[in-house]
Parts: sequence; C-alpha cells; structure tokens
Amino acid sequence: MTGPSAAHMKTTPRISGQYDPVPRRNAQQADPCTMVIFGATGDLTKRKLFPALYQLAAEHLLAPHFAVLAVGRDAAETDATFREKMREALHESDEVKHFDEQIWESLSARVFYAGGDATASDAYTLIKARLDGIEEHRSEEERNRFFYLAVPPSVFEPIVRHLSDSGLVPRHDPSVRPWARVVVEKPFGHSLQTAQHLNALVLSLFEEHQVYRIDHYLGKETVQNVLVLRFANSIFEPLWNRSHIAHVQITAAETVGVEARGKYYEEAGIIRDMFQNHLLQLLALTAMEPPASMTADAVRDEKVKVLKSVRPLTAETIPDSVVRAQYAAGRMKGAEVPGYRDEADVAPDSQSPTYAAARFYIDNWRWQGVPFYLRSGKRMAKRASEIAVQFHTPPHRMFGEDGRMGHLQPNTLVMRVQPNEGVSLTFEVKVPGAAVALTEHVEVAPVDMDFSYAEAFGETAAPAYETLLLDVMIGEMTLFTRSDEVEAAWKIIDPLLCYWEERPAEPMPSYPSGSWGPEAAEELIAADGGEWRQP
Ligand code: BG6
Repeated sequence: MTGPSAAHMKTTPRISGQYDPVPRRNAQQADPCTMVIFGATGDLTKRKLFPALYQLAAEHLLAPHFAVLAVGRDAAETDATFREKMREALHESDEVKHFDEQIWESLSARVFYAGGDATASDAYTLIKARLDGIEEHRSEEERNRFFYLAVPPSVFEPIVRHLSDSGLVPRHDPSVRPWARVVVEKPFGHSLQTAQHLNALVLSLFEEHQVYRIDHYLGKETVQNVLVLRFANSIFEPLWNRSHIAHVQITAAETVGVEARGKYYEEAGIIRDMFQNHLLQLLALTAMEPPASMTADAVRDEKVKVLKSVRPLTAETIPDSVVRAQYAAGRMKGAEVPGYRDEADVAPDSQSPTYAAARFYIDNWRWQGVPFYLRSGKRMAKRASEIAVQFHTPPHRMFGEDGRMGHLQPNTLVMRVQPNEGVSLTFEVKVPGAAVALTEHVEVAPVDMDFSYAEAFGETAAPAYETLLLDVMIGEMTLFTRSDEVEAAWKIIDPLLCYWEERPAEPMPSYPSGSWGPEAAEELIAADGGEWRQP
C-alpha cells in the first residue's frame, strides 16, 4: 500500500515521555486533477467535502492545478455566489480549526459552478465545455478528473450512464493518463438485488479500479489503526481467536436524532444506514485473517472472506439474535427532544428502526462459537464508537475468600474509534495493602492501560473525508469498498430486512432518548451471560 493512509499506518512514534509531533501528513501530493461534484448544493458538499478540500489545501497536498467544478440544479448560482456559500460553510465547520483567508483565496479561485440537471444529457455538454476552459493550461496527461456523486441513489444510474456515454469517463487501464474516476457515496443499493444491479451497471461502463465506493468510517484514523494494532504487533495475534476471546462488542452510538434527514431515514433505517456498511466494516477489520501485504486487493480479499463466513441469519434465528427499536421523546442536554415518529418527514406508524443490536457468528476456524455483538442507535446516552474485544476469564479462580473473586472484570481491549480516539486494555490488579495473604480476602480491582491519540501525538486525527479525497487523487483504493465486498455485506443484511418487512413490529419497541437502548438489547446479550459495555 502506498499513499497517505499507508504513510500514517507505518508511523511508529515512541510514546514514552514527550512526543515531538511529526507533520501530520508525510504523504504524497495529489495528482493534478479536477474534482467534479454532482449534488454540489447539498449538505455533504458544504459539511464534509469543502472542509476536507480546504484542509488539503492548507497542508499543500493539492496539486497546483487542482480545480473543482461544482454541478448543481440551481441555475441562478454563479461561480461567485457558490464560492461565497462555501466560504461561509467553512466558517461554520467544526473541522476547520483555523480559517486562513489566503489559503481560501487560492483555493476558491479554482472553484467553479455549473448549473444543470445531471440526469439530462445537455448538462454534460456544458460540463465538458467548462472542463475544457478550466484545464486549458494543463498538459493532456494532467487532465485527470474524478466525478463525485453526492446525490440521492435514485439519480445515480442516469448519471453514471451519462458519464460514460458523454466520454467523460472512458473505460481505461490503471496506467493510463489522464485518469477518470467515479466516487460513489453510500448507500450503494437498497438491498442485495439493487446493489448487484448497480455493480453490474457500473462495471459494464467502467473498470473496478475507476470506482471508489465511499464508506467514510474507513477514512477514520482509528479504524485504520485496527490493522496496525493487529498486524504491526506480535502480542495480539496469538490471542486473537476463539481460544482466548469470549466475545466482541462493536458499538456506534450517536446522540443526534435523524435531524433533517427524516425522508432518507424512513427508507434506510439503522440497518441500511449503519450496519450494512460501517459496522460490518469494523467487524471485517477485527475478524479478518492477516493479508499477505497491505495492497488494496490483498486487504479487501481478506475482508470479503470474513464477510462471506458470517453465519446467515434465518427466520429461526432472527427473533433471538436481533433487536430493533425507535427512540421515544426524552430530554437530552437539558432540552426536550421529540420521539422518532414525531420527527419531520417520519410516518406516525413508521417501521424504520433507529436502534438495532444483533449477535453474529463467524463460521471459520478462528472464530467458531465467538459471538460478535453489533449495536448502533441514534439518541443514545453518549456519542461513542468502539470495538471491544473481551477475553475469557481465567480458567481457575484463586483469589478472594474461597476462591470467589467477586465481580472480576474480564480483560478487555477497547479500540476507541471516536471520540477520545485511542486504545485501552483493562486488567485486574491487587489493591495495595488490602490482604494479608494472597489467598484470603484479597481485594482485586480493574485498571486501564490507556493510549490516547491526542495525548501521544498532540494533533487529533485528520477528518475521514480528507484522507479519502486524497486517496482518490493518488489512486489508493484500500479504504474503499470493492463490488464483491459491498455485495457480501448486503448478503448478511438482506435476510433480516426481508424478515422485518414481512413482519412489522406490533408495537414497535422504543427506548427513551438519552438511554443505552431498549431492555430487549440487554436481554439479548444477557442470554449468553454477557452485558453491554457503557463506553
Ligand atoms: C453516516 C450515516 O453514514 O454516518 C449517519 O448516514 C450517521 O446517519 C453518520 O450519523 C455517523 O458518522 P460519524 O462520522 O459522525 O460517526
């Protein structure tokens, strides 16, 4: 693997004592290219894409001739008005820590806007003409382009057809310059069948190496760190299997509700929104076999293998393996918040879950019998995403009266994805001075050995979109999902979605906003003798 992500993953600072932070990116500068954004007036462009572009500009990682052509439906918008809107968006963004007028000026001079309906062929004549103007001072080999589809899934199909028919994205070999790439936002499909249809369409028009399917979780520093932790250290691998691991808990909890996305969420629900992509990616990285190398295909091959080994959910197993619920009204940070069914654009009898918890098994040699518990929800008590690997309790209990150790906590390795990114390992220690002899009345307490990115490296991690956009510009595909990977994930999720569609929840279980989810989720894990962590 080459490129920024690889560069990060190879960095091995010593964390003892004062660490002198290295420049955050010792990464390769992007190829000269133009980014064409479809859906430029949407939320993603201002909330994620422009802050990421600004940061890349600030870190001098964009090529000197880099340019953006934003395509939106609003015909009244001009280069000047669009630039002004993006400027305001950067001011509002949490991801831009220091706004520097000069950096913005140099970037914004290379930002252009074209009004048009991207589902109609006329728009592509205009786009071509604008691109010719924007790229006129570049040599032919430098006219690389990537087309970013920040659009609803319903218009995905006509856009990729037009990109191909217009000649803007010709099918080409990996070594050809200029390159043309297509970046697709999630959701990629609505079901296994629609994902297969989309993949077939896309691969009938372009080569796989031209298609970048985004799962922004993969751009998160801590998610990439799962691979480093597992494969750049030798102490974990011998323990990383059913003989030592009791279970794995993967959590992605959010405090926000559905906000202004009621319409999308009604279609998606938590399973399509978080499980099919982010959570299953975390599971795949945690459970995969070591790849032969860190090349994109070697890593993705191993992820596909593990996804294919996930035991299929069936009508017999679903009732005891999966829990769904919606958030009810409640108080969060001192303010009243509405229940899901009272949110804008949500049906009063909606069946879209905002929370789910599920138990999966992976049918292979390494993981046989080890439950992987996945849960995600909106309006939860805390924003926290983590992977917690819980080890077996000791086989023989010796400490404490009659060998009873009270509430011993099993060793747990926690990879904190966000916030407070880092890794911790809990283990039991003897409380000083509490016992005369080790065998009697000894007091044992859990402690944490903790690594925090912020403390060790000073800087916090680069936002996911910054990493991912740069990877598109240098042609690094490890952090993007391949067609077979997307389909393998849908195969896991599809039976559950079909099962629920045929059996609406009557009534739909709920959980108070600001809680850790419904009671049934506690019962799900308690049935195996476990309990959920509270990150
Ligand atoms: C998105 C989902 O993919 O991920 C959102 O569509 C969710 O519903 C978001 O809020 C969470 O991402 P992050 O990076 O804020 O944890």
